[in-house]
Amino acid sequence: MNSVPWWKEATIYQIYPRSFFDSNGDGEGDLPGVTSQLDYVKNLGVDAIWLSPFYTSPNKDGGYDVANPRDVDPRFGNLDDAKELITQAHKRNLRVIADIVPNHFSDQHEWFQAALKAGRGSKERERFHFYDANPDGTPPNNWISLFGGPSWTQVADGQFYLHLFDSSQPDLNWENPEVNADFEKTLRFWIDLGVDGFRIDVAHGLVKEDVLANHPDPQGLSNALRLDVAMDSEVRNELLLTVPYFDRQGVHEIYRKWRKLFDSYGDREIMAVAEAWVHPPVNATRYVRADELHQVFNFDLLTAEFDSKILFDVIERSISLNATVNALPTWALSNHDSPRVASRIGEEQARALALFVFGLPGSAYVFAGQELGLPDGQLQDSDRQDPTFYRTNGQLKGRDGARVPLPWSGETTPFGFSTGKPWLPISQSWKNLTVESELADPKSSLHLYRNALELRKEFLVGAGGITWLESCNHGSKGDSLLSYSRGTITVVMNLSDSAEECDAEGKLMIVSGGTVDARNGKKVIPARSSAWFLG
Ligand code: NOJ
Repeated sequence: MNSVPWWKEATIYQIYPRSFFDSNGDGEGDLPGVTSQLDYVKNLGVDAIWLSPFYTSPNKDGGYDVANPRDVDPRFGNLDDAKELITQAHKRNLRVIADIVPNHFSDQHEWFQAALKAGRGSKERERFHFYDANPDGTPPNNWISLFGGPSWTQVADGQFYLHLFDSSQPDLNWENPEVNADFEKTLRFWIDLGVDGFRIDVAHGLVKEDVLANHPDPQGLSNALRLDVAMDSEVRNELLLTVPYFDRQGVHEIYRKWRKLFDSYGDREIMAVAEAWVHPPVNATRYVRADELHQVFNFDLLTAEFDSKILFDVIERSISLNATVNALPTWALSNHDSPRVASRIGEEQARALALFVFGLPGSAYVFAGQELGLPDGQLQDSDRQDPTFYRTNGQLKGRDGARVPLPWSGETTPFGFSTGKPWLPISQSWKNLTVESELADPKSSLHLYRNALELRKEFLVGAGGITWLESCNHGSKGDSLLSYSRGTITVVMNLSDSAEECDAEGKLMIVSGGTVDARNGKKVIPARSSAWFLG
């Protein structure tokens, strides 16, 4: 095995296949579409792609409702297309991470269909969480699904089944050994097909305890768990300490078994990253103990305000907590479940923050389109497809804004994404945000990402820990600057709305926006921007 595994400080590009590139004109992205754009991905300077689910699915939740985890949904192609994608990625030295969804199946999965037929008390029902109604006919408890509405749905014979998400996503019962056996089969299936790792959906949710207990504020809790619902951080953190169905100790037994499975592939260095947003944050480190998974997502940056104290706390905590288990953090500013970072904190701020985190130790995740600086798509309610929108009667708009297809080329929508009608409309206002137009503009967000990722590889990957230079706790005279040094690079971010002087020494390597001037022997960092200095 190499001394430093490939995933340790990799940059990983998340592709939402339905929104990436449509090869057959049906308005939806597909696997051959991804394959056709691998040179673009490679040129971005990333090490791996993570593909959101492309498995057989009725697509009630963007494919996270899996009806057959060992096959490709026809809307995305077929297994040969998956093999070809992996082969072509490997030819370009890009690793491939598949998404695995072990918390639930689709209600169209053969197991759930069999459970419906077999009736109460059957072994088929033991693969899910079926319970009788309360004596007054109400569901077994008051939990609210993460997509809104009750977490329970009643079937014809009166029993209820648990679904933490949509009613079409029945939760699996991980106390039943058949469930783990089936997932190990699925892991091996994809590893044997060539994938290099897995992103584990709802990794903290598999084991349920106290399934019949009520929660004192089920609606508040459901909102707190949604990345697209804004909430005061303190209120959110209080609620997140009370989740009754996530982060039970039993999940770690599952990942210890899976780790053995991954390690049995030796030199292939199969890795897994946990989607586990758990509280208090120290609990996340349990998922990356030496005999468990390789990485755990740090979700705090997806909701953190553009504020030096908050960002310092989030970054410092993530680095130091991971260090206690000898792991490195992960950094993500956007994903398919959260508002796009450019919309959430502002376009200049998003560039500045990206450049700031690209210098940090650990793995950086980039959600496709983030490199273009895309904002959330502006959608009519009639366009929306996210189950959240329907389950909350339109009260929550859901996550479709972040899933609008990528603009590739040309002057008019749909900008080369498809020859047909895209599944979500792409605004004409994205004309200057296409790949083609940004490639032609040296000051574009795309060039910033490409340059930064090249420099990251050359100067920062493997460069060890950071030393804070400016922060609320280190030498700062105000709240404007955050700065650290790592290896030979000094990274400075100016969060304020005016240019700020700083003491950074060395040669300017890259700036996220504007021009760095010199004044009184100091560097002047433009408003809302970051810069790297070598020296
Ligand atoms: C997390 C996924 O990222 C999200 O898109 C999905 O809706 C839920 N898990 C349920 O699978």
